[in-house]
Amino acid sequence: MAGVKTLTVELGERSYPIHIGRGLLERADLYRPRIRGRQVLVVTNTTVAPLYLERVRNALEAEHEVESLVLPDGEEYKNLETLETIFDALLELRFNRRCTLAALGGGVVGDITGFAAACFLRGVDFVQLPTTLLAQVDSSVGGKTGINHPRGKNMIGAFHQPRLVIADTDTLNTLDDRQLAAGVAEVIKYGLIRDAAFFEWLEDHVEALLARDPEALAHAIEVSCRTKAAIVAEDEREAGTRALLNLGHTFGHAIETGMGYGNWLHGEAVAAGMVLAARLSERLGWLDAAGVERIVRLLQRARLPTEPPGEMGVEDFLSLMAVDKKVVDSGLRLVLLRRIGEAVLTQDFTPEQLTATLSEALAAA
Ligand code: NAD
Ligand code: GLY
Repeated sequence: MAGVKTLTVELGERSYPIHIGRGLLERADLYRPRIRGRQVLVVTNTTVAPLYLERVRNALEAEHEVESLVLPDGEEYKNLETLETIFDALLELRFNRRCTLAALGGGVVGDITGFAAACFLRGVDFVQLPTTLLAQVDSSVGGKTGINHPRGKNMIGAFHQPRLVIADTDTLNTLDDRQLAAGVAEVIKYGLIRDAAFFEWLEDHVEALLARDPEALAHAIEVSCRTKAAIVAEDEREAGTRALLNLGHTFGHAIETGMGYGNWLHGEAVAAGMVLAARLSERLGWLDAAGVERIVRLLQRARLPTEPPGEMGVEDFLSLMAVDKKVVDSGLRLVLLRRIGEAVLTQDFTPEQLTATLSEALAAA
């Protein structure tokens, strides 16, 4: 299709396309083949609705009964109460099993809308229309949906794949610089976990990404989605490889929960978390000091935090990390780095090594 790069998440009969390109939200031809019934509820938020809702409605209205629901904006609203408002709307509108939910916004709207779709009438279709860099490179792909609990990030949710992802890169022009940088953190993650050449490309192009150079952004989104799609196809339910996508996230989720949802952006918490993972990897003799320095330097150039918040203590981290989803009967598992471009999910660290890494980083914060 002209002007569109299309990748596929290969999941047999549940396979779906990811379209990446400019001006795609208004392309009725992209939605048509992937929306089955007549009823569509576009779920968005108070920031994104005035910017993009009209375009989506225009694209869908010729063939569908389109309704919309505008949620409050913020990570602190990714909770049960907001989820209930989606169910209320669906029931009030008498939506049936052939309906589709369309998530228009960042990862918060995507995660909560996807979870609503997973639960409503025991599961209905949904499509992802991501409008942040973070959502375009990560959260819209792969079917992880859910909400936060006051005691832990993303602790309630379901795997439920979308039927379509449309990443309209023009939407990134209205994103503020801090949110753009938060998305770059997840892009850097892909280089770190299994693509050293992409990490090097990022070392050469990080300023171009921050300046919103369209070619650099399109390349970064495509490489990121290609890696994510391959990992999801290999391990949809996170029996192994998929956990590598959580590099920095166990530390990061502790920061997001500990600091109060919305105070540290998800990508910022992941950036600081990736440095903690790198420092623990160095302590284990895996990653060398030069590797840690390259990671810190790249994140700093992306204007991301590289130290944990000084307000938190080692005990705060340890108790919050104990409710991470990667904890198994035998204890905490972490994604660590053998080298740049090679991550592993491991329990090969002692509590003392983890505590020492945290206390050194917190003392420097
Ligand atoms: P977000 O959804 O809060 O969006 C960031 C901010 O940008 C919000 O204020 C939003 O209203 C605004 N915004 C969105 N699009 C805009 C645009 N085009 N122009 C201007 N403003 C815009 O945050 P996020 O970083 O997109 O997503 C973070 C969430 O994603 C977290 O809850 C995280 O847990 C989740 N996540 C999920 C997955 C997954 O696999 N499901 C992966 C990574 C992150
Ligand atoms: N963002 C982590 C995953 O999708 O598995």
